[in-house]
Amino acid sequence: MKYFKQLFIQFLYLAKLDIMADKVQSQLKHAALYRLNRKLSCTLRFVDEGGGDFAIAGDLSKYSIDKTSYIKNGCYIECNGGVTIGRYCHLSREVTIFSSTHEYDSRPKIPYDEVITPRPVVIKDFVWVGSHAIILGGVTIGEGAIIGAGSVVIKDVPDYAIVFGNPGRVVGHRDVDHFNKLKEEKKFY
Ligand SMILES: CC(C)(COP(=O)(O)OP(=O)(O)OC[C@H]1O[C@@H](n2cnc3c(N)ncnc32)[C@H](O)[C@@H]1OP(=O)(O)O)[C@@H](O)C(=O)NCCC(=O)NCCS
Repeated sequence: MKYFKQLFIQFLYLAKLDIMADKVQSQLKHAALYRLNRKLSCTLRFVDEGGGDFAIAGDLSKYSIDKTSYIKNGCYIECNGGVTIGRYCHLSREVTIFSSTHEYDSRPKIPYDEVITPRPVVIKDFVWVGSHAIILGGVTIGEGAIIGAGSVVIKDVPDYAIVFGNPGRVVGHRDVDHFNKLKEEKKFY
């Protein structure tokens, strides 16, 4: 039975019915979890891989993401200043992006007033942002960059750089030749 389910899902992918295949796969996992919960008399929550349940705030007209990119559960994207996410990017769980800020020293109210200062965020193609990273306003993350889990990114990240820590610092680079080879061969995920 398991074999036939997998075969059916493979067929859907081959027929380029990816969304339907994802849905079938998700429903099968929910069903399996339901059975497991009944068996163990407990409540485990299943989170769909690569999908769905994230929050977006601010000016939605300034939000743009390529359809090949993934945002995982629990992310928070504030787009008052504009958030642009390129192709084949993966934002892991609980990533936060702020694209605006408040002025605090030159305003008539504390801790700040209603004025919002836009600070656009751009995430170029093939970027992987690790879980719980925070990306602050005004940052551009270069093509193919990797942001480590839990990092706080406060300034631009060069192409192919690996960044982690708080504040995020460049600690290495991808193998650019390998990256470009895969890019040329269009091997994307
Ligand atoms: C950034 C990352 C890709 C680096 O992976 P890696 O190259 O295999 O790195 P290593 O595990 O070999 O660690 C190398 C060093 O960096 C440190 N390091 C790695 N990731 C770190 C992070 N996120 N924050 C702080 N330090 C980190 C390690 O402690 C290690 O330090 P050491 O050399 O002093 O021992 C990975 O650590 C990471 O953060 N991945 C994101 C995971 C995630 O969010 N997954 C979600 C599923 S999509």
